[in-house]
Amino acid sequence: MITIVVAIGENSGIGSDNQMLWHLPKDLKHFKEITSGHPVIMGRKTFESIGKPLPNRTNIIISRKNDWFEEGVLIVGSIKEAIKFAKKIDDDIFIIGGGNIYQQTMDIADRIELTTVKANIEADTFFPEIDEKIWKKTNEVFHEKDEKNQYDLYFQTYEKIKSE
Ligand SMILES: NC(=O)c1ccc[n+]([C@@H]2O[C@H](COP(=O)([O-])OP(=O)(O)OC[C@H]3O[C@@H](n4cnc5c(N)ncnc54)[C@H](OP(=O)(O)O)[C@@H]3O)[C@@H](O)[C@H]2O)c1
Repeated sequence: MITIVVAIGENSGIGSDNQMLWHLPKDLKHFKEITSGHPVIMGRKTFESIGKPLPNRTNIIISRKNDWFEEGVLIVGSIKEAIKFAKKIDDDIFIIGGGNIYQQTMDIADRIELTTVKANIEADTFFPEIDEKIWKKTNEVFHEKDEKNQYDLYFQTYEKIKSE
């Protein structure tokens, strides 16, 4: 199972200036619960934006640079290679961004764990359209904003519709 994990705003924005658009502890907790113990695949820019390997997960970073090195992560040169290594570790693989990597993995993903943040914040990086002919929403949970989480949000699961 290949799962994309992403948080989008109302305009499908996911980031700006190589940073996230919000700080929502509720979503960070959700992300940790979903991905802990499993391999996570991300683009080099997302890794640099996080700044360090995510603990308790094999971090697989995709880059075309052949002189780029970071301690504690597995660096690969293509999406295919990332998936190949991740599959050796676990059956459950998580693709965690960013925009460039999401664009290239919508076709191979089986599931999307989507957080929709009820905010319209200017962004320079976006998540691709979720085509309802291809994806079916199978779960949705609403969380109201509170003193620690500035925006209302939905946790939604989309599964790829299997062709017969
Ligand atoms: N809201 C969310 O859930 C979420 C999640 C993740 C990230 N983000 C945001 O997204 C933004 C970053 O996304 P991004 O689109 O700019 O960058 P990205 O997808 O994180 O990384 C792009 C980089 O990945 C490498 N790459 C991409 N495709 C490749 C391929 N086919 N083969 C080999 N290497 C490949 C290249 O690295 P090299 O240049 O090293 O070759 C490329 O520059 C940030 O603002 C971040 O905060 C948001």
